[in-house]
Amino acid sequence: MHHQQMITTSPRGLREDILPFRLYQKAKKLGVWDPRDIDLSQDVQDWAKLTPRQQEGTVRLIAQFQAGEEAVTLDLLPMMMAIARQGRLEEEMYLTTFLFEEAKHTEFFRLVLNALGVRDDLSVYHSSTYRTIFYEILPETMQRLLHDDSPEALADASVVYNMFVEGVLAETGYWSFHNSLAKNGLMPGLMKGIAYLKQDESRHIGYGTFLLQRLVAENPALFDRIQAKLMELAPLAMALNQEGLADDDPSDPLAVDETELMNFSAKQLQLRLEKIARAKDRSLDELYRIPEDQLGVL
Ligand code: FE2
Ligand code: MN
Repeated sequence: MHHQQMITTSPRGLREDILPFRLYQKAKKLGVWDPRDIDLSQDVQDWAKLTPRQQEGTVRLIAQFQAGEEAVTLDLLPMMMAIARQGRLEEEMYLTTFLFEEAKHTEFFRLVLNALGVRDDLSVYHSSTYRTIFYEILPETMQRLLHDDSPEALADASVVYNMFVEGVLAETGYWSFHNSLAKNGLMPGLMKGIAYLKQDESRHIGYGTFLLQRLVAENPALFDRIQAKLMELAPLAMALNQEGLADDDPSDPLAVDETELMNFSAKQLQLRLEKIARAKDRSLDELYRIPEDQLGVL
């Protein structure tokens, strides 16, 4: 593929006003925290006081995040390549920060595990539901973009990666950390990292929402496909929640409430769909100018 023209030496220049470029600017300020600067000494002390069962519940959640961050780091590139092939320079510039942030998230959880002295094979916590999502659906859907950047392929990728894995699974995971460790004042270093992660992820999900809105505005029939895809994935989120609770003792102060957890996940799904649906009655130009806060960007 040859370049037809260079964007930044054309009269067009960079479109500094559009959402992806504003996310890029935001990421350069907020996405530069260093996982190695987070003090985990109190976490190590708190960890030693947890019961073996509490430790296991915490390691299970960390093990899911650890491999999840690794998977999203490995699987983002095909999307970046597809966006670059389409000459969407501002979007690609934003995506460079996205990939850097996922790398830091991967580093962060490994630092936590190292500090806690956890060196076991944590794949025992990757249930068949987890493997279906992270070992199969996510890489397959993303790798399709290596040879296919049709609106359908891009929509599927963003639904799986941004809406489902980030928007539903990761958000539910943060909720669980908050309602177990943070609620009990435990492991402040881990929680500090999670606060940074959540902020980074709000930009990632914001970009995905923008991308899907753009695709729907260009091709309204795609909305039904997006909705169907999310509905097809929903039972996997519920199964994953269920498995996470299976070994919990409901009377344990670190245990999360099953109904609240399920409701939280279901609400995230609904929220994502509502935001994408708004693209139906907006012009493409309006979508490019959408303020970050309307996409939930922190
Ligand atoms: Fe991440
Ligand atoms: Mn992310």
